Amino acid sequence: MALPDGPKGGSNWQMLRWVATPFSFMRACSRQYGDCFTIRLSERFGPLVLFSHPEALQLILTNDDGGLFEASGTYNVTLEPMTGTQSVFGLSGEQHRRARQLLMPPFLVTGCIYLAHRRAQVYRDPEEFRPERFLERHYSPFEFLPFGGGIRRCIGSAFAQFEMKLVLGNILSRFDLALADGRRVRHQRRGLVSGPSPFQMRIFEEKRGVCRVNG
Ligand code: HEM
Repeated sequence: MALPDGPKGGSNWQMLRWVATPFSFMRACSRQYGDCFTIRLSERFGPLVLFSHPEALQLILTNDDGGLFEASGTYNVTLEPMTGTQSVFGLSGEQHRRARQLLMPPFLVTGCIYLAHRRAQVYRDPEEFRPERFLERHYSPFEFLPFGGGIRRCIGSAFAQFEMKLVLGNILSRFDLALADGRRVRHQRRGLVSGPSPFQMRIFEEKRGVCRVNG
């Protein structure tokens, strides 16, 4: 089966880019090859086909009952140095599901959350921090999917959002915050996940005068 086009470098080179600069690697692939491309991170696990179009995400994430695509944890073995060997990320379900994998095509299909959240067709000015965008329109679960989807959707999503609301609600109802300097906050990989680059904020205590610069 012909796979979608993708970067030509060998798997060691692609793995290096994936680990060192995953976001610029994905953006470069998306610019060159579009919504769907094949990367090769390991000879052992075969090619990985990444999708970011909402319709493709819907197809992938609603077919993980074994019908069309397997929600395999096999590729997550590459995360073992960080997750350990017993992590749920690396598990692929019962024996019969493992056996079914033998019948699967020799590549993995995965939705790319990072690129899906950067589609200019869905998110105007995707690089801008503009949370009001979520008040302006409704995003489908296949356009906005920070917790993944389908059978591997995050089991901690409700807890994580509850915690965020408590923390942010407490801070923002009492303090005004501003960036301490004009440096742009970048998006960077932080261990397994991604987040803002380190930055400092100025806190205005109890919404009155300037308090301090927080490290
Ligand atoms: C903002 C916070 C969080 C984000 C953005 C997030 C995101 C995600 C995503 C995208 C996945 C899917 C990974 C995949 O498709 O293989 C996932 C899986 C998972 N998350 Fe979270 N997560 C968050 C917080 C949490 C918390 C607080 C917990 C535990 C209390 C948690 C536990 C898990 C577990 C156990 C899985 C694996 C589920 C499986 O493979 O069946 N997460 N998370």
